[in-house]
Amino acid sequence: MSLRVIAIDGPAGSGKSTTARAVAERLDLAHLDSGALYRAVTLAYLDSGIQFGEQQIVGLARSLPVRLRLVAGRFRPEVAGVDVSSEIRSDRVTARASEVSALPQVRQWVNHELRQAAENHPRGVVIDGRDIGTVVFPDAAVKVFLTAENEERARRRLLQLGRSADAASVSQTVRAIDERDRKDSTRAVAPLTRAEQAVVLDTTDLGFAEQVERVVALVRKAFS
Ligand code: CDP
Repeated sequence: MSLRVIAIDGPAGSGKSTTARAVAERLDLAHLDSGALYRAVTLAYLDSGIQFGEQQIVGLARSLPVRLRLVAGRFRPEVAGVDVSSEIRSDRVTARASEVSALPQVRQWVNHELRQAAENHPRGVVIDGRDIGTVVFPDAAVKVFLTAENEERARRRLLQLGRSADAASVSQTVRAIDERDRKDSTRAVAPLTRAEQAVVLDTTDLGFAEQVERVVALVRKAFS
């Protein structure tokens, strides 16, 4: 495959999306956030009142439609033409996303959307998720697996949502993150796992700029 793909996978709150976006900006590539698509499908399902089932949910996603649409150089999540960038980060969506993303037909639909979006971007894409380097783009030129200690991931998630990172909130968020990681790592289809060739980057003690720099360096090396 000649398409340039950089795959960034990792557990909840490891900084995949923010890192992927910054790397894409630095290298003038597009950023695709696969989690945003799973979250948008979850939001559509929750708001629809339809029965929980893979055919129903995929049918809903197609008909509304749910999609990542390229607007001013950025892919933004939409449900029936409405920008849902903020709503997909709500707790009610976060709490149910793992359940929806465990459905094989939902995964197939998301993977198809991601591959199509990537193909429409000839300069290349930075994609973040759980199974990008293992399943969606196993031929990706660069594969990174981002990790960080649980408490640090919880703190970052709270700050990202504009909430206080006091001890009680951190421990509650650690529990929620652990639970989501457990579901994402133990599901039957495309569980969260490190691709064999992936470079592991533990970001617990890295500043954001340094984290981005490390990934940019890996990409430059791969494409030089
Ligand atoms: O940003 P955060 O780590 O909270 O999660 P996300 O990337 O927005 O993904 C939300 C949920 O979608 C995850 O908990 C997974 O259940 C699912 N997901 C997935 O199964 N496969 C992907 N490639 C990306 C997300």
